Formats: sequence, C-alpha cells, structure tokens
Amino acid sequence: MIDVMKMFKARMYMKRNEPFLYSWHAYVGYELDLFKAFDRPMSQYDVADALQLDEDLLNQWVNVGVSIGHLKEAGRNRYKTWNAWKLPKPKGNNSSGVLLKEMMELHIPTLLNYPEMMRKQERLHFDEEKHAPTVAETSRLLEVLALPKMSRRLKGQNIDSVLDIGCGEGGYIKKLAERFPDTHFTGIEISPSVTEVAKALTKENNNISIENADLWDYKPSEQQGMVMMNNVIHYIDLGKRQDLFTELASWIKDQGILSVVTPIAGDSDSPPFANVFNSFFSSFDNLYRLPTREEMAEWGEQAGLELLSIQTVIKEGGWYIVQYEKKS
Ligand SMILES: C[S@@+](CC[C@H](N)C(=O)[O-])C[C@H]1O[C@@H](n2cnc3c(N)ncnc32)[C@H](O)[C@@H]1O
Repeated sequence: MIDVMKMFKARMYMKRNEPFLYSWHAYVGYELDLFKAFDRPMSQYDVADALQLDEDLLNQWVNVGVSIGHLKEAGRNRYKTWNAWKLPKPKGNNSSGVLLKEMMELHIPTLLNYPEMMRKQERLHFDEEKHAPTVAETSRLLEVLALPKMSRRLKGQNIDSVLDIGCGEGGYIKKLAERFPDTHFTGIEISPSVTEVAKALTKENNNISIENADLWDYKPSEQQGMVMMNNVIHYIDLGKRQDLFTELASWIKDQGILSVVTPIAGDSDSPPFANVFNSFFSSFDNLYRLPTREEMAEWGEQAGLELLSIQTVIKEGGWYIVQYEKKS
C-alpha cells in the first residue's frame, strides 16, 4: 500500500511539473532565436552550424520540441517551428519571451535558494542595475490592460501635467502623451541605463521629459494634475510607504489624481502567483513584500487622498490599479 502511494505521489509531481517543460523549451528557443531558425524546414546540423551551437544539445532540444508540439518533422531529417502563435516572438519586438527570460533566469533560481537562505537565515541582494532592463521590459506587458484606466482619468479632468515615478522605459507616458498632446508628461527613473532607453524611445515626443532621478531626492517644480507610480511599491521599505504616499500627495494639485499599479497580496483570497511574488521579493534584502488592500486604503486616507477605485488589471497575478483623488 505504502509503495503504491509513493508511486502515485511521484507520478503526480511529475505530471504537475509538465508545464515547466513547455516554458523551458520556449525560453531556450527565445534566448537562442531557434524558433526563427526553424521558421522554414531545417536540419539540426544546419542550424547548429549557422548559429555556432552544440549540435547534440540542439538535437535534444528539438526532440523535446517535437514531443510537446513546438516543432514538427518536415521530412529528410528536417524540422519546422509549429504552433508558432503559442511561442514567443523573436527578441526585441516587445516579445512575451522577456517574461520567460525573467522567470527562468531570475524568479526560479531565486526561489530554489529558499532552503539555503532559510538555513543560513540570510537574504540575497537584488542587483538593480543588472536586472533593471529586463524588469522594465516585462512590466510593459501590462500596459495594454492598465492604459485605458489611466486614459479615463485624464480625459474627464482636463489634466495639464502628469508625473510618472519609476517610469521604466516610459511606455505608459509615451502612449498617453500621444493621446493627450496638450498635457505635459515627466518620467523619473533611478537606473541610468533604463533612463537612456526611455529617453531614446520618447525623443520624438515634445510633451515628454525624462529625468534620471531617485524619487527620494526629487521634487517636481510645480504641483501635478496626476502622479502615477506603477510597479514600484515593492522597492519601497515597509516603514517608508506611508511617508511616500504623504509626500506624493503634496506633489498633486487639489482634485488631482494619484494612480498606482501594483500586485496586492496577503489577503486570504490572493491568487497563488501574488503570494509567490512575495516569496520572491522577500528573498532580497532590498526588495519588500507587496501591499495589502487595507494598506493601500490606509496610506491614501492618511495622506488626504480619497480612494476612487481599486480595479483588477490581471486577476491571476493579483494585479490592481488603485486611484485616488486629492481632497481640497
Ligand atoms: C518594475 S519597473 C516598472 C516600470 C514602469 N513603471 C512600468 O510599470 O512599466 C520599476 C522601475 O522603478 C525604478 N525605481 C526603483 N526605485 C526607484 C526610485 N527610488 N526612484 C526612481 N525609480 C525607481 C526601477 O529602476 C524600475 O525601472
């Protein structure tokens, strides 16, 4: 009986881990541009030769690809990318592959450190400058879903100035600036390399300014119609979050808006992914757990902001957009 249970559990864990194979295969294909290489029927030999890759390992990757339906045999020892719509687009096209890259190179290795970190009672240190470009790019995948909720606030209120704190590559302000040409947009970003990307991507937009600045040393020259802070709260020490909201409120005009995108965790109905984000952030001595819903309400209230709405951006990730209005 015991042996049967052992077998049953082992099979269950293997089965549950099967989705990992799809992600691993797609990640390797994205990282080495292999799906593009097999766009037309090709032999492993030719692809290994053209891309200077290890042929045995490429063979193994192709075999897995055929068994999970990412590749298909195309006769005469050649293979072809299959079901391309399920696979990440090549690098550089705002591809979903950046998410695979972040998961495989950052999230999973970090979570695998748990036993070691718990035994030694130690944390890792998040290398912000190293990861900033990937993290800024993956955050952009949320833009399409959150943008309409930002536009709606701008449309109704005749807002002439918007400040985006931790603007990353400036994706939000670029799209909003094109839609609202009479509004001036400012983005501040702490990472020099990400600031450069944001400047390059917005150089044609004359209603955008991008500055390389730490939010703690910054103060806008005048009060803003709207302040945004998207996917930044987990960089802020728990003890400083109320102070930050209070400071941000002082940067906003009366009846102006504070708009914050963040995953929310810690409620009993938080989805597993939101809780695992917390496990990830808590692995580092310089990243901090996600806010709870109550905290988001409380920080706003203490700062003199009226909570307008908490709307879902991505349910599975526990992602929300929380908007407040400054009371006059
Ligand atoms: C996860 S990214 C989000 C980028 C963008 N807001 C978005 O949602 O797509 C967070 C960004 O905040 C920046 N950041 C972190 N701490 C900051 C600080 N103290 N001052 C300014 N920017 C900061 C990071 O460098 C990073 O580019």
